[in-house]
Amino acid sequence: MYSPSFKLVLTSLVSVTVLTVSNGSVYAFHRGGVGECEGCHTMHNSYEGQPLTPTSPVGMSGKYLLKGSDQSSVCLNCHQKAGDIGPTGFHVSTADTDMPTGTPPRQLTPGGDFGWLKKSYTWIPSLGATTQTSVGDNHGHNIVAQDYGYFPDAYRTTSPGGNYPSTYLGCTSCHDPHGIYRRLSDGSISTSGATIKGSGSLVGSADPDPQGAVGVYRLLGGVGYNPKSLSGGFAFSYNPPAAVAPDIYNRSESSTQTRVAYGSGMSDWCRNCHANIHTDAALTPLKHPAGSPNGNLSVDYTSYYDQYVKDGDMTGMEANAYLSLVPFEAGTSNYATLKSIVTNTPTKGPSTTDGTPAVMCLSCHRAHASGWDGSMRWNNQTANIVYNGKYSQETDAFQPYGQGRNSLEAQKAYYDIPATLFSSTQRPLCYKCHATGTK
Ligand code: HEC
Ligand code: HEC
Ligand code: HEC
Ligand code: HEC
Ligand code: HEC
Ligand code: HEC
Repeated sequence: MYSPSFKLVLTSLVSVTVLTVSNGSVYAFHRGGVGECEGCHTMHNSYEGQPLTPTSPVGMSGKYLLKGSDQSSVCLNCHQKAGDIGPTGFHVSTADTDMPTGTPPRQLTPGGDFGWLKKSYTWIPSLGATTQTSVGDNHGHNIVAQDYGYFPDAYRTTSPGGNYPSTYLGCTSCHDPHGIYRRLSDGSISTSGATIKGSGSLVGSADPDPQGAVGVYRLLGGVGYNPKSLSGGFAFSYNPPAAVAPDIYNRSESSTQTRVAYGSGMSDWCRNCHANIHTDAALTPLKHPAGSPNGNLSVDYTSYYDQYVKDGDMTGMEANAYLSLVPFEAGTSNYATLKSIVTNTPTKGPSTTDGTPAVMCLSCHRAHASGWDGSMRWNNQTANIVYNGKYSQETDAFQPYGQGRNSLEAQKAYYDIPATLFSSTQRPLCYKCHATGTK
């Protein structure tokens, strides 16, 4: 069982690493481990002079002397900021005032902006058809952060394919606020051993050595992780994945794509809460392999991925085949290889010289939220993601394709990747791997 003692938490407080983020300012807080206690806790049951409000839906307020009504509100005190004019550093949520009706959320991180959970869309597909809806709750993980207007999923009471309670889902369900998990110099993941000297998530992160470990990818929880406030048998069975993100990862992809080198273990990590998703036992919404070995890309799938540029164009090659809307796992936990993949431009497709590439959960989904149903990277509920050369048909009365998103919203949901990179009648991106197949 995971139970970091006060002492254990304090021992991780040692390191000082400073990161530079996109706007040039220098920020550092967690440094791959636990940040200053005062960043999240108040020592006198007050927050900026005000008593804590005892109204938390999960009954947390005051309990751990947190600076917010619940765990995730504490995170959003820093990870959301009203007034952001574009994608900003480590922000993963857009304030309501910065995304009025008709405008999209602003953050473009690999995980995605939780603001999409507050965006619902309606459209009429054809003359006489009933109005269709894509509700915000279906756009990703509904974190409970009541100070910021986020509430539990109204439709799913537990994780599909598992039994994690939706009323408890928050940032700290997935990320360890105390950053106890670390990667040691022998590559193993542990909750003890050398102290954490900095983040291990980025291409610019130092490598671990016998004197200093690094944080696991994105401070994710590992084997045994279970927040103290959640009782029951929810402790994780799998460790965090091997992956490396670029130093600047929250940016528009209008001219170049943001390449995360996913290495291995992402699908097992998601299975901590979704053990039986897309398997024989749970055929809805689809049966599909993910992760190694079942999801390994055979020679055929690797060459489809490399050659497929868009519908009707199979002239691509490995050297520039990567599409951030359909990432894959390189099939390795070698960090030198993963770092070289991140820095390589233009960025390459699956390659057996790097490892054994595989399809994984994040080939199709975003970890936080997206502009589409099922937290999908592309709209999988439509026959064409681009129609008439455009992502959105906002001026048309009937919208079987753009589905109620205006051009600004659809463009952002595709991270500003121009629609002109695709066929003028582009089908959903399953075809990047199933180039010759029917869906
Ligand atoms: C990034 C935010 C964050 C930081 C920094 C942080 N904590 Fe916490 N802490 C939390 C949250 C959230 C909880 C509630 C966890 C839960 O739901 O069980 C918590 C719970 C605790 C608990 C009680 C439950 C447990 O897990 O043992 C202790 C003790 C604690 N924190 C001590 C500390 C100390 C000491 C520091 C500084 C070295 C610190 N925390 C830094 C967010 C943080
Ligand atoms: C006091 C401000 C502050 C609070 C509160 C805070 N964060 Fe952060 N967070 C940052 C900053 C600054 C960064 C970027 C630099 C870094 O990692 O230290 C960051 C980075 C991160 C990263 C990426 C780290 C990496 O190494 O890749 C994760 C994941 C994260 N935060 C999760 C959380 C969660 C979960 C909470 C709430 C339990 C939280 N943060 C609370 C300021 C904060
Ligand atoms: C369901 C699990 C889950 C929840 C809930 C979750 N995260 Fe994450 N988060 C992840 C994963 C997985 C990644 C890595 C995504 C990637 O690289 O594609 C990530 C990435 C991040 C990053 C790095 C930037 C990015 O988006 O890629 C930050 C910062 C972060 N999370 C903060 C938060 C905060 C703050 C919350 C709550 C408001 C939160 N996360 C809730 C799983 C989660
Ligand atoms: C800590 C538990 C936990 C982990 C880890 C987790 N999930 Fe979830 N997930 C949930 C819960 C609970 C729900 C149902 C509530 C909701 O949809 O907000 C859910 C819902 C979903 C949905 C449906 C979202 C929608 O709105 O249609 C998808 C897709 C999903 N998860 C994918 C993933 C992927 C991919 C990962 C790994 C990156 C992952 N999950 C990791 C708990 C988790
Ligand atoms: C080949 C693409 C693909 C892969 C790989 C994939 N999914 Fe999905 N997933 C989908 C599609 C498509 C849907 C239906 C989305 C929608 O609502 O339109 C879906 C739906 C879901 C849902 C919601 C199910 C429900 O009943 O509401 C969850 C949870 C989920 N996926 C989790 C995962 C996890 C965890 C993994 C990795 C183990 C994974 N997916 C791998 C394509 C994929
Ligand atoms: C990153 C590559 C990739 C993407 C994207 C992808 N697939 Fe697959 N798919 C695979 C691989 C690899 C297999 C396993 C093939 C095998 O075992 O021969 C597979 C198998 C399948 C199967 C057979 C499943 C079974 O076991 O019976 C179906 C159906 C399928 N995919 C549909 C889809 C759909 C629908 C999408 C889009 C939502 C999609 N795929 C996206 C790589 C991918």
